[in-house]
Amino acid sequence: MQDSMAFSTKTDSIHLPKDGRPVHVQVSNLVKTFGKHEAVKGVSFTIGKGEIFGLLGPNGAGKSTTINMMCGYLAPTSGDTTIDGVSITSEPLKVKRTIGVVPQEIALYKDLNSWENLDFFGQIYGMAAKERRSRSEEVLHFVGLYDRRKEPITNFSGGMQRRINMAVAMIHQPAFLMMDEPTVGVDPQSRENIFDTIEKLRDQGVTILYTTHYMEEAERLCNHIAIMDEGHIIAIGTLEQLLALRDQNREVQRPHGLQELFIQLTGKTLRD
Ligand SMILES: Nc1ncnc2c1ncn2[C@@H]1O[C@H](COP(=O)(O)OP(=O)(O)O)[C@@H](O)[C@H]1O
Ligand SMILES: [Mg+2]
Repeated sequence: MQDSMAFSTKTDSIHLPKDGRPVHVQVSNLVKTFGKHEAVKGVSFTIGKGEIFGLLGPNGAGKSTTINMMCGYLAPTSGDTTIDGVSITSEPLKVKRTIGVVPQEIALYKDLNSWENLDFFGQIYGMAAKERRSRSEEVLHFVGLYDRRKEPITNFSGGMQRRINMAVAMIHQPAFLMMDEPTVGVDPQSRENIFDTIEKLRDQGVTILYTTHYMEEAERLCNHIAIMDEGHIIAIGTLEQLLALRDQNREVQRPHGLQELFIQLTGKTLRD
């Protein structure tokens, strides 16, 4: 199947992907202003059903703000996101039942154990007790923490807490899962478990938005990648399309990997 897609820098509207997948998520011209600061400056992209879409960018690029608008946590200054054609702005409750978010900061009740956390979040989604039990078992096995479900969250390492954070985001079987830097500060074993979980979800047909600044993760996982900087998407495409980029004006050579391309596009200025 053909995967033709315009490569673009400094985008206004981007249409992605023409690889035969139906569109699942359409982000249209999202803008977010905090006071005088425009954190997201008109971001548009499309995610096909069942794909893993990587959103990369240095700190402060606007990744979390974009995700927070996509999931209905932050109201956009302008623009919108539709999931299966339904707007998160006009029908938030309908959309929220079908999406899950793993936030950048761990959002768990530390006084509750994992089982109780899952049960609590399942109740918020209106799940019946029996369904909550069976789904909690399933997602705890998924993230490899079923045997430790009764231990307080405070006993858990950062990596384990991240995995429970993921389990919570999946409790209601979302068709679209957004993950905001889920591997920051986790040990290699937890990272592998997170990758395995993402790959299992993909195999089940779940659509995933994955945010990271680890290039090797995006190279390994993502069908399509968007690189964001200073509120804009500055490049978008498949890995192959991105690596084929040659910026004639700046006489940049074909980059050897995503890391090199990322630095070519975003520069070497330290961000924090
Ligand atoms: N609630 C907020 N109030 C003011 N500025 C914010 C807020 N959230 C984010 N920002 C600013 O918006 C920009 C983008 O932040 P963010 O979306 O968190 O970037 P990223 O996730 O790519 O690191 C940054 O300059 C950040 O300081
Ligand atoms: Mg962030």
